[in-house]
Amino acid sequence: MAITIALLNMKGGVGKTTLAVNLAWHFHQNEEKNVLLVDLDPQFNATQYVMDFQAFQTQRKNAGTIADLLIDPPQLNARLKKIRLNPRLALHTIGHNGNAKFDLLPAELNLAWLVKNPAQSDFRLEKLLKKIRDDYDYIFIDCAPTDSVLTTMALTASDYLLIPMRPDRFSILGFTNLNETIEIFKENCPNPHNVKVLGIVFTQVSVGSTTEQEAMNVIKAAAQKEGTYLFSSQLQYSRSFNRSIKDQTPIFGTDYAQYPTRRAPAKIAAEIESRITALTAAGKGAKKK
Ligand SMILES: Nc1ncnc2c1ncn2[C@@H]1O[C@H](COP(=O)(O)OP(=O)(O)OP(=O)(O)O)[C@@H](O)[C@H]1O
Ligand SMILES: [Mg+2]
Repeated sequence: MAITIALLNMKGGVGKTTLAVNLAWHFHQNEEKNVLLVDLDPQFNATQYVMDFQAFQTQRKNAGTIADLLIDPPQLNARLKKIRLNPRLALHTIGHNGNAKFDLLPAELNLAWLVKNPAQSDFRLEKLLKKIRDDYDYIFIDCAPTDSVLTTMALTASDYLLIPMRPDRFSILGFTNLNETIEIFKENCPNPHNVKVLGIVFTQVSVGSTTEQEAMNVIKAAAQKEGTYLFSSQLQYSRSFNRSIKDQTPIFGTDYAQYPTRRAPAKIAAEIESRITALTAAGKGAKKK
């Protein structure tokens, strides 16, 4: 059964999508894992990162998107009935590596409808992923930068949260808001899925910037106070990311990004794996007691 990781931060533009897509690509291409990337953002940036517009239009018309699986229309037509019965039909395959596959559950603007009409939606993503998660080793959920029913859906469906964060002073407020959201979710969720925080990963880091170093120290102190793990690996600031998005290529597959930038997803991925091992061991220890 897959390990499900949501990349969450209510602050916009911190690199959630860029990191989610590159981690998904890394686990698939370099570790031969079966990976599903779930786009849970009406901006559908993750979808656009890995699919060109023509392919997206065809997919939307013929196979559908996550919006078709999560939103009940007034009437189910034949196509919707088919994908609701078998959600695998709504997946778009991005690549194969040996026996492993990399699939996308694409999003579209219509997903925003749920934000305005959230009734009885909290567990819909969890239920949907239950039907397909045995096919994968990892599922990455790319979240929207707003606190809405989409956030609750991601929290109910995930085993772990990864918090990408830019090293600036505004991030502290975002971190406080995020902690509150997680606490409120754990208190109010009727059947709490025991979602655990993997930690904070700094993104868009400019090496040698004293202002950023100061902000990182403030964030580090806040994380320590909250008992939140801080990743030692980081994603550096690099203009190559924008180019790799245009090229629909993982950053590690480019010949223009510098070596530390190309290595970063692998390093973060390795740290994710050791965090999961540590949290699993801690969980087992707690049960024994
Ligand atoms: N490490 C990086 N270095 C330089 N630019 C980056 C880096 N990571 C992301 N970017 C750029 O920053 C912008 C925002 O990144 P991204 O879309 O991944 O953030 P996000 O948190 O998903 O945004 P949103 O909150 O809108 O979903 C994009 O233009 C992306 O190319
Ligand atoms: Mg995004």
